[in-house]
Amino acid sequence: MSVTQLFDVRNQVCIVTGGASGIGLACGEAMAENGARVFLGDVDSRRLDFAVERLCSRGLKVEGRVLDVSSRASVASVFDEVLELTGRLDVVFANAGVDVGEGFIARDGSRSVEGALENITEQHWRKYLGINLDGVLHTLQEAARHMKPQGSGKIIVTTSIASLCNVGGVGTSYFAAKAAASHLMRQAALELARYNIQVNAIAPGAFATNIANGHVRDPEFRRLLESSNPQHRVADPEEIKGLALLLASGASSFITGTEIVIDGGSLLGPAD
Ligand SMILES: NC(=O)c1ccc[n+]([C@@H]2O[C@H](COP(=O)([O-])OP(=O)(O)OC[C@H]3O[C@@H](n4cnc5c(N)ncnc54)[C@H](O)[C@@H]3O)[C@@H](O)[C@H]2O)c1
Repeated sequence: MSVTQLFDVRNQVCIVTGGASGIGLACGEAMAENGARVFLGDVDSRRLDFAVERLCSRGLKVEGRVLDVSSRASVASVFDEVLELTGRLDVVFANAGVDVGEGFIARDGSRSVEGALENITEQHWRKYLGINLDGVLHTLQEAARHMKPQGSGKIIVTTSIASLCNVGGVGTSYFAAKAAASHLMRQAALELARYNIQVNAIAPGAFATNIANGHVRDPEFRRLLESSNPQHRVADPEEIKGLALLLASGASSFITGTEIVIDGGSLLGPAD
């Protein structure tokens, strides 16, 4: 089988949450560049318009829909609309997520009062779990609702290496949400296997996106990230495309319930 046949996603209908920027936008772009019909869903309408305009100007089949993953009703209404328009749903990227602020170690390396365990407020916890965890649940629920009767589908959750390891500088609720999203992905994979629906996760290390107001663009912070990576660099969002296409296409026909790390070796630890 040729590579083209193996990774074929032509005419597939795909929804990407958090699709207006960064990793989600690159996943949607990879799908559209290979002939899929892509719906980018995002809470940021301005960024969404910009992304859709850019991709459509290249002749790609891309549309935007404003949605907030923390609300099941919001996710459901976009999924219903896409199904009404297209009659099917082949691939869903449950990707939307946000940074939650600093953890118990501040950017300057000192202990943070705000990030300390005892100072995490109920409001903070609910808000960020609502996006980073409930958002994944809502997307899985809506994908399952439409894919089960169809008897096919691929769902790809964006977790993080934070689901597998802990560090002080990132906010505590981020770890809890990402680890839970990872385990939720496995449970969904188990439940949906008999319906020919595969569920997997991508666990990125540091990618240069707009997360945390694009803090990776701060040269000092970028140097810090680069120094903790064996390849001494952070990734460009383009570098997610190969893995996105693998998990969205027939090339991954026997892969389900797996979280694939894409971190340039960060989890291995520091190197020279
Ligand atoms: N960039 C990294 O280094 C990195 C590392 C590990 C994991 N991740 C994960 O990758 C995913 C994508 O992040 P990114 O780095 O591309 O960030 P990004 O900020 O560039 O893109 C995230 C997009 O999600 C959207 N979004 C935020 N809240 C939303 C909501 N409630 N509903 C719908 N859309 C919403 C934002 O508007 C934005 O367009 C996130 O789940 C993030 O946790 C990123």
